[in-house]
Amino acid sequence: MADKHNVMFVCLGNICRSPMAEAVFKEVIKQRGIADKWYAESSGTGGWHVGCSPDQRTMAVLKKNNIEYQHTAQQLVKDDFHRKPKGSKAEVFLLGSFDPKGETIIQDPYYDSDNLGFEKCYIQCWKSCNAFLDKYNK
Ligand code: 4NP
Repeated sequence: MADKHNVMFVCLGNICRSPMAEAVFKEVIKQRGIADKWYAESSGTGGWHVGCSPDQRTMAVLKKNNIEYQHTAQQLVKDDFHRKPKGSKAEVFLLGSFDPKGETIIQDPYYDSDNLGFEKCYIQCWKSCNAFLDKYNK
C-alpha cells in the first residue's frame, strides 16, 4: 500500500455513493491494467451503517454493468488521515469535480423510490474516475 497511490472515496453512509465509486474505480484501473499502482477504499462520515453491505440498488447497478463487488460499510476515522505522510501530495476533491461536463455534485440517491439516482451515480462515477485517472495516473 505504501508504494501505491491511495484513494479513499467518502460519502455519508458508505452504502450508496462511495461504494459505487470504489467499485467503479477498481473496475477502471483493472481495465486500464494499472490495478497494481492504486489502492482504493471507501468509507462514510456517519457510522449508522457500519458493518452493512452496500444498498441493494448500488449492487444492482454494479451487477447490471458486470462489476463484481463486495464491501462492508466502514466509518472514516482519524487514522485515515495518517495516509498522508510527510511530503505527500494528498488532496481532498469532490469526485464530481472531474466530470468532463462539469456536473460536480453526485446527488444522494438513498431516499429515491427507484434506481434512477443510482444509475446516474454510476455514470457520474464512471466519467469522473476516468477523468481523475487521466490526470493522476503516473
Ligand atoms: P450514501 O447514502 O451516503 O451515498 O451511502 C446514504 C446512506 C444512508 C443515509 C443517507 C445517505 N442515511 O440517512 O441513513
